[in-house]
Amino acid sequence: MFALITRRRFLGQASLLAAAAAMDGHASEALPAPSPAPAVSINASTLKPWADPLPILPTAKSVGFRPDPENPAAKVPYYRIAMREAQVKLHRDLPPTTVWAYGGSFPGPVFDTRSGEGLLVEWANELPPKHFLPIDHTLHGAEADKPEVRAVVHLHGGKTPPESDGYPEAWYPTGKSGTCFYPNRQEATMLFYHDHAMGINRLNIYAGLQGLFLIRDGVEDALNLPRGQHEIPLMVFDRMLRSDGSLEYPTSGNAKAPWVPEVFGDAILVNGKLAPYLEVEPRKYRFRLMNGSNGRFFHFSFGDSAGNSEQFHQIGSDQGFLAAPLAIRKLTLAPGERGDVIFDFSPHAGKEVLLKSDAFELLQFRVAEKASAKSPEDAGALPATLRPLARIPESQAVKTRRLTLDENMNGVRESMGMLLNNTPWHMPVTEKPVLNTTEIWELVNLTEDSHPIHLHLVRFQILDRRKFDVFEYQTKGNVRYFSPPLPPSPSESGWKDTVRADPGTITRIIVPFEGYAGRYVWHCHLLEHEDNEMMRPFEVVPA
Ligand code: C2O
Ligand code: CU
Ligand code: CU
Repeated sequence: MFALITRRRFLGQASLLAAAAAMDGHASEALPAPSPAPAVSINASTLKPWADPLPILPTAKSVGFRPDPENPAAKVPYYRIAMREAQVKLHRDLPPTTVWAYGGSFPGPVFDTRSGEGLLVEWANELPPKHFLPIDHTLHGAEADKPEVRAVVHLHGGKTPPESDGYPEAWYPTGKSGTCFYPNRQEATMLFYHDHAMGINRLNIYAGLQGLFLIRDGVEDALNLPRGQHEIPLMVFDRMLRSDGSLEYPTSGNAKAPWVPEVFGDAILVNGKLAPYLEVEPRKYRFRLMNGSNGRFFHFSFGDSAGNSEQFHQIGSDQGFLAAPLAIRKLTLAPGERGDVIFDFSPHAGKEVLLKSDAFELLQFRVAEKASAKSPEDAGALPATLRPLARIPESQAVKTRRLTLDENMNGVRESMGMLLNNTPWHMPVTEKPVLNTTEIWELVNLTEDSHPIHLHLVRFQILDRRKFDVFEYQTKGNVRYFSPPLPPSPSESGWKDTVRADPGTITRIIVPFEGYAGRYVWHCHLLEHEDNEMMRPFEVVPA
């Protein structure tokens, strides 16, 4: 019932042509009264860069205390974050943009929390009852009998009990809330929270429903890293914009099935601004980077517009610190991945430095002539080691699962469906790891795309990647390797929760299933894929 087809790359032109046609029609008609010019897609590079200061994201504030769900005699901080429609300025020269914001901020406020200190968050859906982006009712979970606007929040990378994890079908409509308990029993790192409503998750996140979540611990405190105003969380994502400031989301051209397989915008927003600047001092800064795009991969570097790039240090990835600082010139982050980096502006006093990704210039740093005052973090070099990182021996795994990544014609629409292990979402659970055991998952990518694969609840290590003969696998079902196993790059050698599974490659991860028994999901973090069946449940079963 699933026929294999070759990859067709959708260019997202249909809506651009429609916009252009609308404009022609307007110009040729003799209208009785002037009406506003129709909104057309704009080329973001025509907007003046470095016109706006970088927004420093607000910190989420608790509103009281409530009984600890695990120990009702104790109390934990209680937050209430409302999701609402908001108007924000993405650039000085653009009209305000309608977005959906957590706590009034686009992206949402940053949680600054401590390991071992649990918290409760009430996520209130106060969104308008109509969506402003094109829902595809042919997608599983987004059928026309469901409310248009639905929300449920997931803390990505959180070791969270199942009832608080934001199961995609646990959505609620406008006017309702969900309260989640985050025990925070995990190491210092940066997580992020985002919408996870079945079948419309890509649209809710594109509209703005995502934000950052820091967990700190004693190991981090002892490292004497740049902090306070010298530690800056940066959530970076791309969007397509129209001349009236509105967000454009491309469609297939088929009004009944508008889903497109991927979205790339030319407006790359840093903390919600297009090409902002930041005044910095000539000293070390710590940047907490996160790729919040629906589909774009970033290759972050620091340098100038002449193409020179500077060295910087990566100190952490998705799930915490690397074993030691790593000197690099470029950091690749797929959607959902995070990177913790240190850049030293001291050699650049009085100059400008750019944060870039490929040909895009994202953020301009204006380095002052002098630092205002010395602080302990400036005293010396970075620590030689960060946190001990033991490799999990393969012999610890009690089970190896071979799981394919597939792209198929699903018969329902004139477009592709993506699947994990050729199995649609609604089929019975097939992956049932036992709590407190370790498994190896082999991600067999039969497609021509790189898919960032994310597992909820757990952290894992990447074992290796190996090229193989896709055709032979599809026709005969056996694995013939083309290359020896390649270890993960040093940048991804720490604890991860999202891994790039490259095309024609078998990517192996080793996963301790720890924390909680219950129902979770794993999926591709390209949000268009995730919404079109590239997501499956898994169930951790008690020992
Ligand atoms: Cu960012 Cu299901 O995750
Ligand atoms: Cu997650
Ligand atoms: Cu994918």
